[in-house]
Amino acid sequence: MDNQLYFERLVIVAYRLPYKFTKTKTGYKAVQNSGGLVSAILALSEKFNENNNNKIKNKIVWAGISDQLQENLSPKDIYNEHFDIIPITISPQLNELFYGGFCNDLIWPLFHYFPSYSVFKSEYFNAYEEANSKFCDEIVKIIKPGDLIWVHDYHLMLLPEMIRNKVPGANTCFFLHIPFPSFEIFRLLPRHWRESIINGMLGADLIGFHTHDYTQHFIQSVKRTTGFECRQNIIYTPNKLVKADAFPIGIDFDKFHDSCLNSNVFIEKQKIKRHLSSQKLIFSVDRLDYSKGLLLRLKGYETFLEKYPKWQTKVVFNMVVVPSRDNITKYKKLKKEIEYSVGRINGKYSSLEWRPIIYQYKSLNFNEMIALYDLSDVGLITPLRDGMNLVAKEYIACQIENKGVLILSEMAGAASELNEAILINPSDNIEMADAINSALEMTPEENKQRLESMQKRISSYNVFTWAFDFFKQTSEIKEQQNKMNIRFINKGTSDQFISAYQKAKHRILFLDYDGTLVSFAKYPELATMDKNTLKIIRDLSDDSKNKIVIISGREKDFLEKQFNGVNITLIAEHGYFIKKTGENWETAIPTVEYWKEDVIPILSEYVNRCSGTFIEEKTGSIAWHYRNADSDYVQLRLHELRDNLAEIIRHKTNFEILEGNKVLEVKCGKYDTVQTAFSLMKNESFDFILAAGDDSSDEFLFKALPDSAITIRVGLIPTIAKYNATNFSNLLNLLKSLSE
Ligand code: UDP
Ligand code: G6P
Repeated sequence: MDNQLYFERLVIVAYRLPYKFTKTKTGYKAVQNSGGLVSAILALSEKFNENNNNKIKNKIVWAGISDQLQENLSPKDIYNEHFDIIPITISPQLNELFYGGFCNDLIWPLFHYFPSYSVFKSEYFNAYEEANSKFCDEIVKIIKPGDLIWVHDYHLMLLPEMIRNKVPGANTCFFLHIPFPSFEIFRLLPRHWRESIINGMLGADLIGFHTHDYTQHFIQSVKRTTGFECRQNIIYTPNKLVKADAFPIGIDFDKFHDSCLNSNVFIEKQKIKRHLSSQKLIFSVDRLDYSKGLLLRLKGYETFLEKYPKWQTKVVFNMVVVPSRDNITKYKKLKKEIEYSVGRINGKYSSLEWRPIIYQYKSLNFNEMIALYDLSDVGLITPLRDGMNLVAKEYIACQIENKGVLILSEMAGAASELNEAILINPSDNIEMADAINSALEMTPEENKQRLESMQKRISSYNVFTWAFDFFKQTSEIKEQQNKMNIRFINKGTSDQFISAYQKAKHRILFLDYDGTLVSFAKYPELATMDKNTLKIIRDLSDDSKNKIVIISGREKDFLEKQFNGVNITLIAEHGYFIKKTGENWETAIPTVEYWKEDVIPILSEYVNRCSGTFIEEKTGSIAWHYRNADSDYVQLRLHELRDNLAEIIRHKTNFEILEGNKVLEVKCGKYDTVQTAFSLMKNESFDFILAAGDDSSDEFLFKALPDSAITIRVGLIPTIAKYNATNFSNLLNLLKSLSE
């Protein structure tokens, strides 16, 4: 991995600043804030410049809320050699509803699969919008062209879109440090909130998650919420490509590994050893949080003492709980329950010489933590759900003597990289008890083997590789976006088209109907022409130099009704019927109905199997519409349906399958749009040809037209057309300019 930023300056935006600034006699002391986000980004920031051999000219910027919301810290108080700190201030009242409410009373429990803990209040969402927009105002003030704005975590999911709306060219990426839940959970959010969250995140160019599963959950939610096309982790939003991918966050492996030999850590280890004598040590450290499975861990440990009494008096469980979010009722309650549980277990098993649990409610300093990681025989990390869990990785990095055995919950994101740990279900107290016993009895050889594989993995994909991979992929998606931009119709290309149009003497314009002149509706009959669009088409067709051709898969009567009284040529049912200007409908295809008997029963079966789908019977074809059905389920069924239809087609040479936008159509007969469209150009020469369409079926016409033709695919989608229009109104603007 090349350690490159690819951008001129990195601007980190997170809810929290990395430090709390506490007042001392001489000024302010910076104390690190808790949590994985701060640990990881701080490690990255501190090493950033030195790791880059001065390749990066500008100091990193870190913008976030300062805990001293009421105090006015001066720049001198918060000076830091690694980054420029930008404190953002919001009122305590807003913070309460935003951070305490929407973030930690709703999103945190919901995204960690505790929906019953989630509190849905509209004032929470309003505060979330307001706080995100406050962040946006501050960020917009400080960013410069060439910056990469890296937005972090669930507190700021609306921010990427807000920044983009204010600074359209900004380079923005987003990383979510917590799980992204499956759509079944995500959909519990009110529709407007979930649309805002998805669109907010899609404001970024790259969106990162810890695991492949979270990425897939997000992509599924994008599809279900917005209907945007997603292929191979690229999301085709109406105005740009966005990439979503998995980037499992790492740690500064060398720092943790090498610190075990540090003299201050040695002193800490001596202290612990004196206290322990010959007892085995089980260790855990987590923030106070119900997602960490603390109560169930105590239950598992109790079961272990009961099931394996031989270990009583020979083991000690040091459970460190780091204070966190203690203003929130759920957390206060959890603290009481933990204390009760510890008291009960200690009361039940303690003797004069032995206490089975040493419980500490406090933060550890770095040296104390390394000493405990290094000295303990078992690391017991059993969250009920965790985005990643850095403690597990740090524990592995600190096993310099290959002694400690890691027991890890399979619900932690880290489990997919640390699968040589003893993986357990954190809710199963018997499995946990057995795992503790196995860990204590594991041979050093076996543990060494397991540790080596895990250490190799997490030392090579560390926090630096993680970040630089992220920057590289952001720059790659920007490049892809730029390539697409070149093809987008913009002011320059429009001017070229207008000038060619004005010079031309005999023009032909082929315009697709659905998705090109009108936007899609739930049911085909609802997608009708609006007055303004009709005026543009009428103006174009009133020019005697123009031949305007509407091409569509629609039935002839529907098209005629939409363009009633306009002087144009209509091609209906993909070329089955044609109605030239001022003439009647014609077809060269003999009407045969019997073939439908083979197809309708098959399609009807799929209507029954996929709710929301329906059949449309036309003269020359039968269409199966699936716009209103679950897109993932339909994708599965489509494969089967194509196979079933292929069977029939093999025996009937005249049959053909056409795939359109959320519709599959079977037609019978030798005709197609291209043939019919070309029949209109026979014996005439045109010096201006334009074709526009949004559908894969329009690609045939784009391909067949001469090189000089202007071909435009509506939508952000790969195409053989020469240009893309971002959406149908972008195309209508162009047609309007031509008509004027
Ligand atoms: N940590 C800390 N002080 C402590 C205990 C833990 O700084 O007293 C750090 C720990 O080293 C780890 C982070 O806090 O890097 C916890 O991250 P994790 O991903 O395990 O959980 P999170 O708190 O983000 O849910
Ligand atoms: C998790 C979140 C972070 C958060 C941290 C500590 O790691 O992903 O965004 O900062 O917990 O929580 P707190 O609410 O104290 O910031």
